[in-house]
Parts: sequence; structure tokens; C-alpha cells
Amino acid sequence: MRFSLALLAPLFAGFAASAVNVPRVISTNHGTLTAPTIGTLVASQQSFPFGYKASDWCQDGYSPITVWLLDYAPTTANLNATGQFTDAAYYFGAFLIGNFGLPPIGPNPVPPPTLTAPDLSGYAAGSGLYLAVVETAKNCPPGNQPAQYGLTSTQLTTV
Ligand SMILES: *[C@@H]1O[C@H](CO)[C@@H](O)[C@H](O)[C@H]1NC(C)=O
Repeated sequence: MRFSLALLAPLFAGFAASAVNVPRVISTNHGTLTAPTIGTLVASQQSFPFGYKASDWCQDGYSPITVWLLDYAPTTANLNATGQFTDAAYYFGAFLIGNFGLPPIGPNPVPPPTLTAPDLSGYAAGSGLYLAVVETAKNCPPGNQPAQYGLTSTQLTTV
């Protein structure tokens, strides 16, 4: 799915001009957040469970993911040319998932079983925050294709 720059312009006025010639390939494929489940309560500096099953729709040996916290329900339209959010509340980092039983190779770590919430004191109790995972596929047929980005997210609730 592609989104017009006209749609993106109000959101990303600052970089829209530079993005004109950058391919941004969005995939409707995405993996599955197994944890946290929707509505999980999150508190400042407290850990919560994290689990993500890669889709690996192009059958890469390794699936890079990035993990984000947002204060709105994200869609792929919110991703910039490099498949990142410019307006995230927090960035948990980049991780690398080995598929087909492949071992960790770095430099990014495998996804941890828990994540630690940042300082959420700016959010009223009961605020909806969203944990989002962007998965990148690099090995799509017939080869030499631009990276594709797939997105999934779940809603969290601040305490
Ligand atoms: C995309 O967003 C990331 C993270 O906010 C930023 O570092 C990067 O420069 C942006 N890329 C483009 C092409 O705008």
C-alpha cells in the first residue's frame, strides 16, 4: 500500500521534500505481537512482557525489527522513508530475529522477553499508548528489491 505525499505532507512537512525520490515500500504483511496483550497496564520505569513472532514474508534468514512507543494508533502512513517513526514517544531499539533456527549474529540483539517503559509521567492515568513493531524484509523476490516494511501494534494503558 502506498500513500500519497499529499497525505503525508501535513505530518512530515519537514522531510517531505527530501522523501520525494526515496522509495518507501510498505507491506501489508506483519508479524504477531504475542505480548504485551491489548490493554496491558504500563507504569514508568516498569517492565512489561514482550514477544514478537516474525512474519518473515520474504523468507529472510534474519528479520530486523524496530520497537516503538507511540501516543496514537499508528498506521503504515506514519512510517517515513526508512520505515521509522519521526514522532515516537519512545524508541525501544532495533533487534534481529533469527529465522529457521539461525543463531544470533548481531550487531543488534535478539528481542528481549521484557521491555522497560520510559518515564510516562507526562501521560494521565488511563492514557492509551501503543507499542508498535516494524519488521523489515530485505530478500523479496525476484531479488535486489528495496526493503519492505510491515507494521503491527497493540494498545497499552498507563497507570
Ligand atoms: C526517519 O525517522 C528516523 C527516526 O525518527 C530518522 O532518524 C530518519 O532520519 C528519518 N529518515 C528520513 C529519510 O526522514
